[in-house]
Amino acid sequence: MKNTKIDNTLNQVSYSKTLFSKVFIFIIYRIPNMINSLISYMGGKFKMRKELQEVFQILSQKNTYTTFIDGFFGMGGSLKALSDALLKHGVKKIIVNDINPCIINMHKCIRNNRDEMVNYFLETIRKDVVIPHGKLHISVEDFIEFKKILVQRFYTLQDKREYGVETSTLFIMLSAFNFSGVVTFKKDGIINFSNAIYDHKDINDLLFNTIKRIDTFSELYNKFDMEFYNTDYFQLHHRFKGLKNTLWNIDTV
Ligand SMILES: C[S@@+](CC[C@H](N)C(=O)[O-])C[C@H]1O[C@@H](n2cnc3c(N)ncnc32)[C@H](O)[C@@H]1O
Repeated sequence: MKNTKIDNTLNQVSYSKTLFSKVFIFIIYRIPNMINSLISYMGGKFKMRKELQEVFQILSQKNTYTTFIDGFFGMGGSLKALSDALLKHGVKKIIVNDINPCIINMHKCIRNNRDEMVNYFLETIRKDVVIPHGKLHISVEDFIEFKKILVQRFYTLQDKREYGVETSTLFIMLSAFNFSGVVTFKKDGIINFSNAIYDHKDINDLLFNTIKRIDTFSELYNKFDMEFYNTDYFQLHHRFKGLKNTLWNIDTV
């Protein structure tokens, strides 16, 4: 579908939340693409899936695992890379931990609040992009202004330590504009985004892939029993060190 057709169609249905959602989802799922990472960033391990799968294959020949613990969960790349192998082996329980509260709550929301996240995203696009501008494909200048609004909303929530559906969805949306140095995760757990847009193609990633990212990972997480922890790794280790049939993934910073 051409951009002008998408713009006109979405503008016409933007008066109705339900209709807008249906049309938007119909449009994005007509574009086929694989989602491999929730947020692509430098430390992600999905790119090492071949090596991780080889190691798992060797280890699982001599051991029977029922639990997988990821002490430094990050964007979940290691789990994504190993998910098929873990399921095939019969691992049902997944315990994940990250010292950063925003990161761990984002994964928790993806698993448990998929619909609320998708709704929040769609309402943001409808109310802050399509209604005021009459189209989806706005200019880069307007997108910079839109990004500033999202960054500000994210900071307001982060300042209040509110790590729920809104913060988690904004985190994924803003990370579409991510490359080295743009998003910074500080030691105290504070996440910073720049206001700038560095590559206009990232706009399409935000618009067309956010829901797909949430859907792909929500589906994956719901194949397992998952527990989420937001502690320092050593505390997690202390808590679960005696657990039998457990494979630990320790991918430190
Ligand atoms: C290299 S990343 C993990 C990448 C992940 N395996 C992936 O593929 O997406 C490291 C993560 O460890 C977290 N982290 C840093 N120090 C930690 C600590 N002391 N305990 C637990 N998590 C920590 C960071 O917040 C970051 O998300």
